[in-house]
Amino acid sequence: MNDTQLSSPGATAAPLEDRRVLLGVCGGIAAYKSAELTRALVREGARVQVVMTEAATRLVQPLTFEVLSTRPVACDMWQTAPGTRIQHTDHGRQSDLIIIAPATANTIGRIAGGLADNLLTSLVMASRTPVLLAPAMNVEMWSNPLVQENLARLTNLARYHVVPPESGELACGVDGAGRLAPIDQIMDDARRLLSPQDLAGRFVLVTAGPTYEPFDPVRFVGNHSTGLMGYALAAAAQLRGARVVLISGPTALNPPRGVEVVSVTTAIEMRAEVMTRLAEADMLAMVAAVSDYRPTARATAKIHKTSGDKEIRLALNPDILAEVGSLETRPLTLGFAAETEDVVAAAHRKRAAKNVDFLFGNLVGGGRGGFACRKNSGVLVDRSGTQESFPLVDKAELAHALLDRLAPRLATRTPEEVT
Ligand code: PMT
Repeated sequence: MNDTQLSSPGATAAPLEDRRVLLGVCGGIAAYKSAELTRALVREGARVQVVMTEAATRLVQPLTFEVLSTRPVACDMWQTAPGTRIQHTDHGRQSDLIIIAPATANTIGRIAGGLADNLLTSLVMASRTPVLLAPAMNVEMWSNPLVQENLARLTNLARYHVVPPESGELACGVDGAGRLAPIDQIMDDARRLLSPQDLAGRFVLVTAGPTYEPFDPVRFVGNHSTGLMGYALAAAAQLRGARVVLISGPTALNPPRGVEVVSVTTAIEMRAEVMTRLAEADMLAMVAAVSDYRPTARATAKIHKTSGDKEIRLALNPDILAEVGSLETRPLTLGFAAETEDVVAAAHRKRAAKNVDFLFGNLVGGGRGGFACRKNSGVLVDRSGTQESFPLVDKAELAHALLDRLAPRLATRTPEEVT
């Protein structure tokens, strides 16, 4: 048995960390929202170079962006800047991602028309860096066929991506589509564009949360799972290019962006939803805390209190993971186990008993993560007997670290793993 000691989470957990982002700000009223975007990018460790069009500088002072990005703002094509020989080519080439927010109809049209008549359009023209356009404009402009044609022309090229505007009250007082997409949506797309796409073309099935096993209309047998770990894994797989379906027990969480969520209540419902999709799946991550037992009977009306004790008889639930492990062909499978002691032995035992490729054992309680907290730690074991310990980190970070281990295995699965 090998034990690689406390591995550090992969760089994929923080896709913006130390990455060079060129933020182009155009002259739309939403330019002030880009100040918030600058802050969000900087908060995640990005090195942000702001480039403003002349029109944008009329709406917001460059000083605002200079303070937030801690770098001089570039506006003038004819000025040199520290660290660049030719500003209008170097800034773009030196970036990992170009975000244009707000992207006005004018700038979209210029880029689509192959014009390079200001610093921002020249930077785009003179680099091959991916470009994320966040359009914001008046509803009539947005619905103008020329604007839509220009956008379609750009998105036909692999380099250009669009985070569409949302509908709502616009600065011109009209209601309609054209409002800059929410900053967290732009950030999500930026993270995705800077993440490794090692799950592109893959279908990943994730389960999360508890199951509730009712014994009358108002009570159930359940557990403390909040779904945080499973939702983090689903979000991480989506960022890495996978199509993700998240089969979720009852939780209070918002669905991760770009992930299809199927809500279930009981273990039997969860089993049905997993089995329906299993044949298509490349990877199954069973993060859910599935209740091992369910009450044998479910009263149709609330059971009222009477004097003396009551007994609830429990029946064994189907073991979804063990059933998947017994199938002739199955996806790459990751199980989880929440333990209160002896987590390493339990992880090896459960992995073998359920015949899964990987099992992540996490200790619950005592500040070590597990249920209902933002962080988690544990040990990942695999078929070869290898075990790897993971320190207490944010669940999103842990999710990426686990995918760093699993994604390469999709391409190199042995016949034993597939059948
Ligand atoms: O949701 P959070 O609050 O973020 O908490 C995360 C978590 C602690 C729930 C998660 O990290 C975790 O450990 N999930 C597994 C919980 C568990 O105790 O599993 P288990 O030891 O009962 O089962 C082992 C594996 O078999 C699990 O992958 C489970 O999904 C699966 N199983 C279990 C029972 C059953 N009837 N069917 C199953 O498929």
